[in-house]
Amino acid sequence: MQRKQHLFIPGPTPVPPEVAAAMTRPVIGHRGSDYASLQRYLTEKVQQVFQTKNDLFILTSSGTGAMEAAVTSSLNPGDKVLALITGQFGQRFAAIAERCGAEVERMEFPWGEAVDIEKVRARLEHGPQLEAVLVTHNETSTGVVNDVAAVGALVKDTPTLLLVDAVSSMGAMDIRTDEWGVDFMATSSQKAFMLPPGLAFLSVSPKGWRKVEKVSPRSFYFDLTAWRESGVKGFSPWTPNVSLLFGLEKALDLMFTEGLEQVWARHRRWARGVRAGLRAMGLELVAEDKWASPTVTAAYIPDGQADALRAAVKRDFGLCLAGGKGKLAGSIIRMSHMGYVDDLEILGALAVLELGLKQLGYPVKLGAGVAQAQAQFIEEV
Ligand SMILES: Cc1ncc(COP(=O)(O)O)c(C=O)c1O
Repeated sequence: MQRKQHLFIPGPTPVPPEVAAAMTRPVIGHRGSDYASLQRYLTEKVQQVFQTKNDLFILTSSGTGAMEAAVTSSLNPGDKVLALITGQFGQRFAAIAERCGAEVERMEFPWGEAVDIEKVRARLEHGPQLEAVLVTHNETSTGVVNDVAAVGALVKDTPTLLLVDAVSSMGAMDIRTDEWGVDFMATSSQKAFMLPPGLAFLSVSPKGWRKVEKVSPRSFYFDLTAWRESGVKGFSPWTPNVSLLFGLEKALDLMFTEGLEQVWARHRRWARGVRAGLRAMGLELVAEDKWASPTVTAAYIPDGQADALRAAVKRDFGLCLAGGKGKLAGSIIRMSHMGYVDDLEILGALAVLELGLKQLGYPVKLGAGVAQAQAQFIEEV
């Protein structure tokens, strides 16, 4: 029998059966009134998740598409941009802006740490005027959350735009797009929204639109003015993935029935359990507690065996963990605790990880990590 795959990678995350079932509904035409009502309904619900009254678009792409849509629509070649980089995805954001011809100033922070707001403040106060600041909210490559509210407070009342990648946090965390002053907020479907890959969500503020109107769009597919024009009528400019939208309707239903605050609390609790569990296995975590991600935890595996450990637990138990990216390749494992998972699965994954460590000769005491996670979970039932 083919081994069951247990997805503990930070996206794609497991899809609830109700969501999978909803996606099997017969496809409907995308230029009719029933489609328009669906798109309007979904847009409004996703706006609630974003905590925004800004325009919001449901794009047919992965999250990188939403990041590219934001950049190509709001930046002219030669525009000065500050990219705050705390890991691989911060680098990607900078690379997209560079590809679009922006003059990118990279402000790099040690991987495993968050953006140092004082450095950003100093740069904004003393350096040349910037068109935009780019920041990753939840740096999935290290499991670190950046303080977007603080970055927003620095640029909100200035002409500088704030572009945020919230691909691996939106839906799992209390993210206040409008309150924080985010002009372009991007995320995608295959993380906390519990859907397969293929949809991206992007919000645009009035300040963002003022810049978009001055930029000649360099992408046809992602020309946001085309998305706005069709969106007003309840449509997408190009053929949308209707099946994923049916799934989104169900996924949002699950999230709102549970309650967003409850969803956020559950992610924080899982993160605490997983962190306690991994530490009890003797592993060093990449991120300190003060900026630890509620959706993904990264841990160092000594002696260069991170990928061997991942291969072993996948082969023997079907446990899929992510590895390190960029400079952390081969030295860490990343375990997701995002979306459609539960205590039972998380405890199982930790137990299997202990077995994998044991098999590779690490001095782990079987059950030690599970016990710490259990203790954490029982404290916060
Ligand atoms: C923080 C972050 N940004 C961007 C991306 C890229 O998104 P996608 O793979 O949906 O294009 C990811 C994917 O893991 C991510 O975690």
